[in-house]
Amino acid sequence: MSLLSINGLQAGYGPRRVLQGVDLTIGDGQILVVLGANGAGKTTLLRAISGTIPRAGTITFDGKRIDQLSARKVVAAGIAHVPQGRGTFADLTVDENIRLGAYLRNAADAKRNRERWLTFFPRLRERLAQQAGSLSGGEQQMLAITRALMLQPRLLLLDEPSLGLAPIITRGLVDVLAAIRKETAMTMLIVEQNANLALAIADDGMVLESGNVVLRDTAANLVGNDEVRRIYLGYE
Ligand SMILES: Nc1ncnc2c1ncn2[C@@H]1O[C@H](COP(=O)(O)OP(=O)(O)OP(=O)(O)O)[C@@H](O)[C@H]1O
Ligand SMILES: [Mg+2]
Repeated sequence: MSLLSINGLQAGYGPRRVLQGVDLTIGDGQILVVLGANGAGKTTLLRAISGTIPRAGTITFDGKRIDQLSARKVVAAGIAHVPQGRGTFADLTVDENIRLGAYLRNAADAKRNRERWLTFFPRLRERLAQQAGSLSGGEQQMLAITRALMLQPRLLLLDEPSLGLAPIITRGLVDVLAAIRKETAMTMLIVEQNANLALAIADDGMVLESGNVVLRDTAANLVGNDEVRRIYLGYE
């Protein structure tokens, strides 16, 4: 059964249509990686799903239509979005940022929930009182992800979590995402330039080109696909 099913999704900015009618499905508990050149519409796809931009078409999540819902209601339905560029509040502490993610919960719930997610990110636990703006890039990304996890989503949308991070930090982050999926069966839609690392933990991948899905296959098949290897995985 698909957790998320999208048909004919169109979205853009003002008169500019970016997504040209995207169809995609993600099975419950699966990780799907979205590949595509700069400007292909990857960020726009995540925004359209999370309802942060206007969209047309049908989006069914857990058996219910969500394409008419406000961004806030999409979150309440169980979808959390970690936007490109992270969006943590630099002047707030790590703990305050994490607590912002818990706005839908009561305090006891939030505390239990925070402890649960911090087991995946021990570095953040050591830095709860530190200002978010003074964290390293990798720590800020962990914080953004933790804040999203505090919403207890069933589907996590991640937009280029490795942006600006050193390869070794990226690998650590991707490994944590894999561990979270293994332990919680959380479904993930990940936009990632570092396609080698992302496909290694994914079930499926798809390629977006000028707002259209041009390829969808298992991660293993994509890694073995000559064209994908040349364009997205950096093999000659
Ligand atoms: N707020 C905006 N207003 C107008 N046009 C926008 C806006 N955001 C994105 N676009 C345009 O929409 C197109 C798709 O952008 P999008 O950010 O979805 O691409 P992307 O695949 O995420 O690229 P990147 O890999 O660089 O992040 C681009 O041509 C971009 O210039
Ligand atoms: Mg983008």
